[in-house]
Amino acid sequence: MTTDRSARRRFLAFVASSPLFAAAGFEPGLLSGLLRGGRDADRDLLDLAGHLPVQESLITRAQDGLDVFDFEPVARKAIPVAHWGYLAGGTDDDATIAANRAGFDRWVLNPRRLIDVSRIDASVTFFGTTYPTPIVINPVGSQKAFHAQGEVAVARAARAKDHLMVLSTVATTSIEDAIAERGGPVWFQLYHQSDWSVTKQMVQRAERAGAPAIVFTVDLLGGSNRVTLLRESRKDTRECTRCHLGGPPLPGLTGRVDAADNRRKPNLKGYEKLPPQLERGTPTWEFVDRLKQTTRMKVLVKGIVTEEDAALAVEHGVDGLFVSNHGGRAENSRRATITSLPEVVKGANGRIPIVCDGGFRRGTDVFKALALGATAAGIGRPYIWGLGAFGQEGVEAVLTILRKEFELTMKQSGTTTLSQISRRHIAPA
Ligand code: GLV
Repeated sequence: MTTDRSARRRFLAFVASSPLFAAAGFEPGLLSGLLRGGRDADRDLLDLAGHLPVQESLITRAQDGLDVFDFEPVARKAIPVAHWGYLAGGTDDDATIAANRAGFDRWVLNPRRLIDVSRIDASVTFFGTTYPTPIVINPVGSQKAFHAQGEVAVARAARAKDHLMVLSTVATTSIEDAIAERGGPVWFQLYHQSDWSVTKQMVQRAERAGAPAIVFTVDLLGGSNRVTLLRESRKDTRECTRCHLGGPPLPGLTGRVDAADNRRKPNLKGYEKLPPQLERGTPTWEFVDRLKQTTRMKVLVKGIVTEEDAALAVEHGVDGLFVSNHGGRAENSRRATITSLPEVVKGANGRIPIVCDGGFRRGTDVFKALALGATAAGIGRPYIWGLGAFGQEGVEAVLTILRKEFELTMKQSGTTTLSQISRRHIAPA
């Protein structure tokens, strides 16, 4: 506490003496308010830190990135502020985003020595398809908000590096185009629609397009309080309706991208108007049963964080789980997904594959998740930082870095295949 306070004082003294503070035109009372502390002081302090000009030099080429964090400030500079708010934000005070990261610090590595690690195999198999890495490109919506090529660039990177990719329902690229650009199957993340006749067509469309699996997301069914998104949006001076719902059609948009509302969300468009079958409430396990009866694709559920729900998922014939709190964008639980993972693994009892996501930024994070029983690890924001910064090249660079870090960790831990990574290879911090 004392250290926090003196660090705060030192930081504020530095800020106060800086000409940048005066130039930035902050209110005169701000510093004394921050020094006194109080309810909103920490938020104000973070806000102040976020406004100070960034001094470190940013990378200018994707190949210069040394870790995934090198891409974040470059992307932040390139992405419009409201879109950045959408990407970076969580819920309430964003504490669950921080909790996801902090969760990894509760585990340390416990490496084994004198094992031949000159050759390793980091491949993972999902439902008969093998990928060279357990790092999964998780769904992130609206990727053309971050780079003109959006999911197309990501699918091309997934193809180049042979990663499993999951496309969002609210992607700005259709499932058909994503599969074509990936040059192979892409899983489809499903947001249910209020009308089952539409959800059903959406599922059938994904199956027709060649998706082998749907990932039904269940962690936002009650809604979420996106404060950072709203706060950042207020700073954006552009006319949102030019691109979003209700605006005039953008020139040059043709083909599957509809020229009317939702024109940038092609997976939501193009369905037949059938007699409506409106959902009576929010989905329950009955909905999962319905999905299973509707498709031959694998049905995975994303957003499970408890042993009870993992066991129920297995009972309902679910084919796989994503341990996820939506990157800290669902309820503000303040519980890291890496902390939830062991109980989900227990509930599933080895019967179905488990992908864990939430705060993965290092190869060691991936290793810890696998040691705790995950089959694979999903990433979201880091590859979007790569996308926003350098397009496809940036996405590839981020994937390369994470794979390099993970494979180094495997070797240094004395593990040559994923199945050798065990609970004994990590220990509580
Ligand atoms: C959508 O998936 C979101 O988190 O906004």
